[in-house]
Amino acid sequence: MGGLFKDILGSNETLFKNDVALEFDYQPKLIPYREKEQRVVAGCIKPLFQEKNGRNVFIFGQPGVGKTAACRHIIKEIEDETDDIVPIYINCWQRNTTYKIILEICELMDFKFVQNKKTEELFKWIKQTLNKKSVVFVFDEVDKLEDLDFLYMILEEIYRKTVVLITNYKEWIVDLDERIKSRLMPELVEFKPYNYEETKGILKQRAEYAFHQNVLSEDAFEFIAKKTFELQDIRMGLHLMKESARTAEDKSSRKITLEHAQKSLSKVEEFNIKKTSELASDEQMILELVKKNSGRKIGDFFKIYQDNGGKLVYKSFQRKIDKLEKNKFIAVEKTAGGEDGNTTIIKANAEKKLTEF
Ligand SMILES: Nc1ncnc2c1ncn2[C@@H]1O[C@H](COP(=O)(O)OP(=O)(O)OP(=O)(O)O)[C@@H](O)[C@H]1O
Ligand SMILES: [Mg+2]
Repeated sequence: MGGLFKDILGSNETLFKNDVALEFDYQPKLIPYREKEQRVVAGCIKPLFQEKNGRNVFIFGQPGVGKTAACRHIIKEIEDETDDIVPIYINCWQRNTTYKIILEICELMDFKFVQNKKTEELFKWIKQTLNKKSVVFVFDEVDKLEDLDFLYMILEEIYRKTVVLITNYKEWIVDLDERIKSRLMPELVEFKPYNYEETKGILKQRAEYAFHQNVLSEDAFEFIAKKTFELQDIRMGLHLMKESARTAEDKSSRKITLEHAQKSLSKVEEFNIKKTSELASDEQMILELVKKNSGRKIGDFFKIYQDNGGKLVYKSFQRKIDKLEKNKFIAVEKTAGGEDGNTTIIKANAEKKLTEF
């Protein structure tokens, strides 16, 4: 192509070397900046290599700080290292009851005869099989669980194991049933948000997997890294990189420029870190009500919730509010003083644009 058109992308060309690398659940080969956290978890698993019982771990931290990625990486290493330790990873968002979890464990262990069997029968098989080896259980997003019977069963009846629990909410462990808490006795591991340098390092690595060389301009990258750091969620960076590349491709540009990155940010103004469709139905109901009644005091809002058929007791309701806030679906403002003393105001978050962060 002549000089005049050298920066124009052909219709069958793409800026991506591997666009899958920008998917949220893509497993990068390395998980930098989490060596310390991974070492604690590995330390709890270590006794299993000597056929002793392992220790348990409770992992907490904000969305998009590498909890799932780090644990998946540990599981991969176990798989590469030995056949004597069975790794079982389950996301409790999709599997939120004891029955569903037990069924999933059977599935992961290739047990085919699950039809018409009760939880107890299935667990009996699991127990017999797993107790011949050691097991690392990772239960991700445990705050989504509706019951914890399976956890009790595992703690009581699987002999050599490490149970890793992951959640965004540190408080989850506090409310845990004593029966389970006293058997779990986990090491607590906090995943703190990444600093700016770390955020850049992670995004740089992903950009290298995803794009051909020199495609992503330095100022576009800096812009994306800065926004990602402000939002403290790596997913935002992955999303922005993908969107900017699409914007650049739409313009048939061979480079992703700062302008493309800025455009992509304005396009994702309504982007939520997690999609609303992934929320449980009672959480969606609360979110809808917040949108219609933004700016109320929490007590008044609870009445509105009840008048609309909400069934949760106040404490559970409050927990849902916390959850919606932490995932940035709503905003909660606490004001001290004023005529009613301390008040909590619940606000819809759509009003706050991403560009304002
Ligand atoms: N240290 C890291 N190195 C490489 N990639 C990372 C790192 N930390 C996070 N990521 C990437 O960022 C994205 C979000 O990470 P991850 O899914 O592990 O977040 P999380 O802490 O489990 O969040 P949530 O609480 O919402 O589930 C993933 O695509 C992951 O690969
Ligand atoms: Mg996760």
